[in-house]
Amino acid sequence: MLSEPTNEGHAAKHALMQQLEAEVRVCQRCPLAQNRTLAVPGEGNYQSVVMFVGEGPGFEEDRKGRPFVGRSGKFLTEMLKRVGIQREDVYITNVVKCRPPENRDPLPQEVEACSDYLTRQVEQINPRIIVTLGRFSMRRWFPTGSITQLHGQVRNIGRGRVALAMFHPAAALRNPQWEAEFSKDIQVLPKLIARAINANAAAARGEALPAGAPHPGDPDYQPDTNSSVSSSQSEFRID
Ligand code: URA
Ligand code: SF4
Repeated sequence: MLSEPTNEGHAAKHALMQQLEAEVRVCQRCPLAQNRTLAVPGEGNYQSVVMFVGEGPGFEEDRKGRPFVGRSGKFLTEMLKRVGIQREDVYITNVVKCRPPENRDPLPQEVEACSDYLTRQVEQINPRIIVTLGRFSMRRWFPTGSITQLHGQVRNIGRGRVALAMFHPAAALRNPQWEAEFSKDIQVLPKLIARAINANAAAARGEALPAGAPHPGDPDYQPDTNSSVSSSQSEFRID
């Protein structure tokens, strides 16, 4: 929807992602399927260097089948805009794709049942940067430590990727201190994006990766030569 295939690589990725999203919409792998209105696979730009991973759909998301379209979503969209990022230019998904009843925490078995979809989304989109929103998403890439300790940290997670841990937007909306932290933590993103785009561009030209690239020393580094964050990427500068 938000991403048009523009060449062969894009078209293949587009087809795989559409297939995955279609599978999620009819998934019955865990009991959350029973109470959902619509599953929420995720949406955004498949070519993005950034992927946001939240917890699970809430009331509005369940009704619309789209991630982060309620109050938390408005907040996230606004905070992105403040640092020069259009929501349409990133990919956004959740740890579980169906709404837990009364917005309760997802159960370990639900997270596990849904895990393969997220794995495939990461493989196919191949983002350089994964932003975790909240504890459940953080736990996948930051196995230990609390969110109050870890938020704002950028961690090398292998395969040329970094993860940035952030508070969940709903937590930020509940607590002014966490809102301030959210606002501060997101400010690192334009710089990470600029580095990722430069690294991919250099790799595409067959050059050594520039200093500060997401993961210059990683033997698994897999450049995505088709990536972009937006048409306005020239706004992002490296210092
Ligand atoms: N909260 C989430 O974690 N995800 C959404 O999509 C919406 C609210
Ligand atoms: Fe399937 Fe995930 Fe929905 Fe469970 S939460 S039914 S595993 S899509």
